[in-house]
Amino acid sequence: MTTASPGSPAEIVVAVIRDTGDRAADQRMLAALAGELLPSAAPAATPVAFVVVHHCAHCGASDHGRPSLHSADGTAVAGVHLSLSRAAGRVGLAATLAAPVGIDIESIDAVAAAGLDDVAFDATERASLDALAAHGGESEARRMRASAWAAKEAVLKTAGTGLRTDPREVALDLAHPARPLALRTARTARAPDATGLTLHELTPLPDGLVGYVAVASASPTRIRFAEAHSLGDAAPASAPPPGPRPNDGVSRR
Ligand SMILES: CC(C)(COP(=O)(O)OP(=O)(O)OC[C@H]1O[C@@H](n2cnc3c(N)ncnc32)[C@H](O)[C@@H]1OP(=O)(O)O)[C@@H](O)C(=O)NCCC(=O)NCCS
Repeated sequence: MTTASPGSPAEIVVAVIRDTGDRAADQRMLAALAGELLPSAAPAATPVAFVVVHHCAHCGASDHGRPSLHSADGTAVAGVHLSLSRAAGRVGLAATLAAPVGIDIESIDAVAAAGLDDVAFDATERASLDALAAHGGESEARRMRASAWAAKEAVLKTAGTGLRTDPREVALDLAHPARPLALRTARTARAPDATGLTLHELTPLPDGLVGYVAVASASPTRIRFAEAHSLGDAAPASAPPPGPRPNDGVSRR
């Protein structure tokens, strides 16, 4: 369990674990991560105290959509916000009590190969990426493209709409790239003008991966990386991903 001292930034607990292709295992890890935040929770070593349930706000299905935390008897645990992302053999998990959260990790190579620019970026962002490629080099532009895409998907996960919202509605300042990236606008239902959103860049991540966490709050928040082994995952985040890569992590509309 974690306690925040008064006035200190609210924690967003993050873990990056191996993608074994076992979705139920990912959900158990996410429940264990969330358990770290709850005062009355069982130790993270006994994640069965909580389960992760999905709900699609669009069609009402429970096999996909935003994840949320429930106790083992099926009662929703209020005030806990969860998110999950997979890319290049890794799973990114995030949990916080602060506000709705979104995590997205991306493979730099997979985003480059996906050719997403027209659907992902507005004309201003595309011009910035072109300028970066010309002046900073193609490799820097590839990293920026993947980071910007991760930031946008993270924001759209906080909104709960995912790619039902046009990602160009989340506009980033790529002309003056800062870390974390700055939002120009974000026309999502939850944060119609971007003022109620905070972006955190995830670092360090394994080579070739970039990632962002967005939280629907303007109040100070901070990222804390949880020890993956405390959640029951044996591989440190810096280890090379094992075996076949079940998911390149790049969604296409
Ligand atoms: C959210 C979304 C952008 C993630 O896609 P992605 O980048 O390929 O996948 P990631 O690995 O980064 O994230 C997947 C996780 O996002 C979460 N997620 C799915 N839909 C979500 C939503 N609407 N809001 C927040 N999180 C969502 C789930 O935890 C999912 O994990 P799962 O595969 O175990 O279910 C994409 O799934 C999407 O746009 N979903 C909404 C589409 C929709 O509503 N369609 C209508 C269906 S009826």
